[in-house]
Amino acid sequence: MKAEPAEGGRDGVREPTQAEIGEEVDRLSENGVAGPGYDEPALEKIAALTWRISRLKEEKNAVIAAHVYQRLEVIRGVADFTGDSYRLSLLCAGTPAEKIVFCGVRFMAETAAILNPGKAVYLPAPEAGCSLAESISAEDVRRLKAQHPGAPVVAYINTAAEVKAESDVIVTSSNAASILKKMFARHPRVIFLPDEWMGRNLAQELGKEAGVEMILWEGKCVVHEGFKEADVDYYRRLYPGAKILAHSECSPAFARRVDFIGGTGDMMRFIEQREAPHYLLVTECGFGDLARSRFPRKQFVPMCRLCPYMKATDLRRIYDALADPQPDQIVRVGDSVAVRARRALEKMFELTDNG
Ligand code: 13P
Ligand code: SF4
Repeated sequence: MKAEPAEGGRDGVREPTQAEIGEEVDRLSENGVAGPGYDEPALEKIAALTWRISRLKEEKNAVIAAHVYQRLEVIRGVADFTGDSYRLSLLCAGTPAEKIVFCGVRFMAETAAILNPGKAVYLPAPEAGCSLAESISAEDVRRLKAQHPGAPVVAYINTAAEVKAESDVIVTSSNAASILKKMFARHPRVIFLPDEWMGRNLAQELGKEAGVEMILWEGKCVVHEGFKEADVDYYRRLYPGAKILAHSECSPAFARRVDFIGGTGDMMRFIEQREAPHYLLVTECGFGDLARSRFPRKQFVPMCRLCPYMKATDLRRIYDALADPQPDQIVRVGDSVAVRARRALEKMFELTDNG
């Protein structure tokens, strides 16, 4: 790829020279951006963008947060921090940077905005929603509360800011069980929303009756609802001794057949700490790419699906959001909603063990 040095474009960041692209390609390869889809010409194109994003980021005093489902070149090439929903909330809450570019989906960027009043939060792919977040409105939550007076609302972080504002406490895949346990110590019934399957998996784990002690909503993740439990038996025959790990948004029937169920942070820890001849990761494909780059000596068998929302972000859009954010890329949460949603998020930090 031919890239001429230039004095500076609209945003003031010049193009890298061929030598600088070469150095950036080496940095990316050392960082694990390798494998199918990352041949030399592709890496050079990626390098030309990551080089400019890194400089622009410094110039603008911005940080880039990336969820583990993001593309490898985003996570390994430009992100300042990466993690599951809980870790990203925590890190965004503590960043000294003036601007946050959120590579993930809208509810995550909104959470960053709620936790960082006064800072600019950009979502490079403004259309990046989430089927769970879109399954429930604030009005639905108010109706549920009226139907079940006295039952606290425990909302999964995959919800819009307005839904968080109606909730008592927010949970993520990594702390939902321990926070629910604390809520059940004080309340006979709890409303958990919007992920029905995660709710059923948690009710099973906590020995609670779904629909009675744990009031549920019918939201589903479009990615995890697509996995079929019959595939587990097929893969077990094909890969004897393999460990099968599934995200807790998978169905209870699926959860019963696998070796481990949890959030992406817990799944990554399992891979790190437990030896197995093969690992099957039943979740979004980006997670497997990241695991492969973190543990190059371990064997991973693909059993994943793509999240169209998570994959809407790419380097070009990150660059554009940093250089010249468009109005729809700027994430704003109104003050009255933000204040109430922040209270529910702070409750989560307070109730999280080893948070
Ligand atoms: P984690 O917090 O486990 O990364 O989950 C986020 C998500 O959207 C899973 O589909
Ligand atoms: Fe939402 Fe599912 Fe995509 Fe996660 S994987 S962002 S839950 S649609």
